Amino acid sequence: MSNLGEPYGGTLVDLLVDEEEHVELGREVASLPTIELDSRHLADFELLANGGFSPLTGFMGEADYHSVVENMTLANGLPWSMPVTLSVEESRAGELTPGVRADLRDDEGFPLGVIDIEEVYRRDKTRLAEQVYRTTDEAHPGVAALYASGDLVLGGSVKALRLPDHGNFPDHRLTPAQTRAAFAERGWRTVVGFQTRNPIHRAHEYLIKVALEGVDGALIHPLVGDTKDDDIPADVRMQCYQVLLDRYFPEDRVQLSVLPAAMRYAGPREAIFHAIMRKNYGCTHFIVGRDHAGVGNYYGTYDAQRIFDEIDLDALGIQPLFFEHAFWCLRSGAMATTKTSPATPEERLFLSGTKVREMLANGEDLPVEFTRPEVAAVLMESARGG
Ligand code: ADX
Repeated sequence: MSNLGEPYGGTLVDLLVDEEEHVELGREVASLPTIELDSRHLADFELLANGGFSPLTGFMGEADYHSVVENMTLANGLPWSMPVTLSVEESRAGELTPGVRADLRDDEGFPLGVIDIEEVYRRDKTRLAEQVYRTTDEAHPGVAALYASGDLVLGGSVKALRLPDHGNFPDHRLTPAQTRAAFAERGWRTVVGFQTRNPIHRAHEYLIKVALEGVDGALIHPLVGDTKDDDIPADVRMQCYQVLLDRYFPEDRVQLSVLPAAMRYAGPREAIFHAIMRKNYGCTHFIVGRDHAGVGNYYGTYDAQRIFDEIDLDALGIQPLFFEHAFWCLRSGAMATTKTSPATPEERLFLSGTKVREMLANGEDLPVEFTRPEVAAVLMESARGG
């Protein structure tokens, strides 16, 4: 891949206005119609503004939207798997029209930037669910979030006054420009990105370490935007990552930073989306394991790997690293997959998320074959309400 390490589409987008425009725009927003961004739209705004969604410079217009849903590419042919849309309630149709500039605010009414509305269109959410989520079942958390959002969609370029103010993880909120600078400073030419919405258990650690044998560094990049209610909260996860990295990874080979994105649980489509974002954050490689970004039984174990066969990998410009379902192998006394161990099914130790939640709720110790004791201690403390 000749474009390995480059931002997606060639240039890292930065939608933050300069100081002069900041003053003008700061004054202007007071007189504009206001759109309050919910947490999912806020996450998309942040990734547009900081370049995580490069080459996008705003919320998608209809041509890009249709092309993404139907063909998994932007209208210009570049692979892109998830729509990035700004939806509003139908009642705003009279006011939010093409040519209008609207003020984008957080839920406390704080102005973050503006959208110059170029297009207003309606979307077929059922079609979107079928194509992108591969299900129209409302029990799917991504589909549920989609159905709960407005039908009317605004397309147009965005200007940012500031990035959202989160308050948590201030030392680990690097923008794509900042992770890129950190990698350059460390002299890393190849970097593997690791997406996660869970604590890092032994299987995750195994994947990262196997990948690290072949590259200069790893970006541990937990997603900290909206997740479903029974996922472990981000602040507890961050404590787990810290204790794990402190003890089990060489400091000079790993960078920890958070991804502000919301989880879609779109499995295969989201795996590509996750890879694109990590390319923008400066990664050259990206881990895709078992049921990546999946939920329940909506996707096959390796669907999120197979989907990469359907897109132009050269155009994608980040190398996916695929891993089989990893387990603790009783025969070898180590982590393994069927690629590395002849263990019989009885010799493979897997723990499901449900089983782990049950054990935590009952105050039972998590076995070292599943998770490091330091990580288990954080999880048990949190389960006890500490
Ligand atoms: S995800 O929604 O972010 O994909 P999770 O945090 O559990 O969920 O997974 C992070 C990454 O590790 C994903 O690429 C996933 O496929 C991979 N993964 C998780 N558990 C295993 C496992 N036991 N074997 C192989 N890959 C795994």
